[in-house]
Amino acid sequence: MQLKGRTALVTGASQGIGEGIVRLLGTQGAKVIAAARSVDKLESLSLELAGKGVEVHPLELDLAAPDTVAAALGALPEPFSQVDILVNNAGITDDGLLARMSLQAWEDVLRVNLTGAFATARAVSRGMMRRRWGRIISISSVVGLMGNAGQANYAAAKAGLVGFSKSLARELASRNVTVNVVAPGFIETAMTDGIPEKHRQELVELIPLKRLGAVDDVAWAVLYLVSEEAGYVTGHVLNVSGGLYI
Ligand SMILES: NC(=O)c1ccc[n+]([C@@H]2O[C@H](COP(=O)([O-])OP(=O)(O)OC[C@H]3O[C@@H](n4cnc5c(N)ncnc54)[C@H](OP(=O)(O)O)[C@@H]3O)[C@@H](O)[C@H]2O)c1
Repeated sequence: MQLKGRTALVTGASQGIGEGIVRLLGTQGAKVIAAARSVDKLESLSLELAGKGVEVHPLELDLAAPDTVAAALGALPEPFSQVDILVNNAGITDDGLLARMSLQAWEDVLRVNLTGAFATARAVSRGMMRRRWGRIISISSVVGLMGNAGQANYAAAKAGLVGFSKSLARELASRNVTVNVVAPGFIETAMTDGIPEKHRQELVELIPLKRLGAVDDVAWAVLYLVSEEAGYVTGHVLNVSGGLYI
């Protein structure tokens, strides 16, 4: 699955799943725009991958301010100004049971996870349609499909990405732009680092493949969906959950 000649934009690229996606798409030949708030981390990733012949452009982007996205992408330098592949990966949690969930926590999680994806997709979709080729992937979660006590805001945002993507898949298909979702289960990153050991063991018991996922398990699913070879797949939700959600 070669991505030579393609430019990919990955949000939430400073660590975890997003960083893994940058590494994999980059080593498959794509130029990558790596976006997040932590520019220092993006710069060291870019420097490290430059040594391996991978071109990564660090982009400071705060999806909590979705109205700034179009201008930030509009100012990208020439070799990176044409985005062929978008991976909406940036995400946050702010958990709490409904009775204790503040409006702020609700709105913050919806804004970064869902409105951020909307603003980014809107900014890049015009060019994809004009060029008659594009791939838009959003990283949802099995929590968006199953629900999870204490994560009503996160589950709503992640379920929202599914409805959003299925609608875009229908809107953009005639221009050869495919739109799909990857829904990971529990993946070993900073987001799951805080799970206490006892709870982690209980979780593993619930997963048929008996382990948490690795960042690369998600990255390979993304690589397939953005490849030329997946050109007839659109509006799909691909679970990468070790069987947690079947
Ligand atoms: N880990 C899991 O088990 C799991 C399971 C299912 C789904 N997911 C989803 O997978 C995605 C990546 O998760 P992860 O585990 O890799 O999380 P992570 O390690 O916490 O990384 C989150 C990324 O999002 C970026 N981000 C956060 N707020 C942002 C903002 N306001 N603007 C721009 N970027 C922002 C962060 O960068 P900065 O802080 O530098 O901005 C970081 O690069 C998320 O959408 C998450 O919901 C994760």
